[in-house]
Amino acid sequence: MDLDVRRLSPACGGEISGVDLRQSLDAQTVAAIHAAWHEHLVILFRDQDISDLDQVRFIQSLGTVGEYMRPKQLREREYHPAVMMITNIRENGEPIGAIPDGEMMFHTDTSYDASPHDGTSLFALEVTEDGGHTLFSNQYMVHDSLPEAVKTRLAGREAVHAFEFGTTVKAKRRYDRSKGAHHPHPVFKRHPATGREAVFVCPLLTEEIIDFPEDEGEELLQTIYAYQERPEFIYEHIWRKGDFLLWDNRCVMHARTDFPRDQIRQMRRVTLHQEDLPGRYQS
Ligand SMILES: [Fe+2]
Repeated sequence: MDLDVRRLSPACGGEISGVDLRQSLDAQTVAAIHAAWHEHLVILFRDQDISDLDQVRFIQSLGTVGEYMRPKQLREREYHPAVMMITNIRENGEPIGAIPDGEMMFHTDTSYDASPHDGTSLFALEVTEDGGHTLFSNQYMVHDSLPEAVKTRLAGREAVHAFEFGTTVKAKRRYDRSKGAHHPHPVFKRHPATGREAVFVCPLLTEEIIDFPEDEGEELLQTIYAYQERPEFIYEHIWRKGDFLLWDNRCVMHARTDFPRDQIRQMRRVTLHQEDLPGRYQS
């Protein structure tokens, strides 16, 4: 099936037209979307008007829906159990959703867990006039561009990912691991569907290379972070209300640009825990 896909930047991103996500999609359309996702890493559907159930159903068509991993005591509202509301809307001075304000450093979602979620979708319910953009950095490109000496030095190494829920900028070098979620992952990971290698460390969550000289490890991580910030590897998404985006956490890192506190931003997040590998769709 031919899908109408427009490239959004040289780094990554593809806008898919002609699909209404309120409808349940036939297997061929799902397979075409799935293939476009692997090709473009981030897929965008504009002018959608979907409910939380529509969003969950679409993610289910690609695999297993992710469980919302935020600790129960930090959940302010009850939505569909898979939904995380990301918003700065406040009631009685308290945000009604998660990660309400401001800039967020490059990261990958849920990498503090043993089984990070393969993909993340966001549906834009309300968007800001200024800022609050999402940056996507292509980690295949970062991997392929890194100096050979860096790749050789870190080959086969693992790094610890740790997260204190709610943080958007890493404020300390090490979080208290007796309290926070943390897990080791390979520095370079091969994507199970594309077979390509990608960088899997990020400035918000990665704390150290395991069994490695600390200063050298930190220096190598900083070298990688500088590559992740290079404009040629980045697609900057400027949100419109009704945008639906799905990205691949295994090969892109994402970040949020700052925005004024008095402008409302509301995104509905549902993750894809584990994708069904697309061989299933080939006839
Ligand atoms: Fe995120």
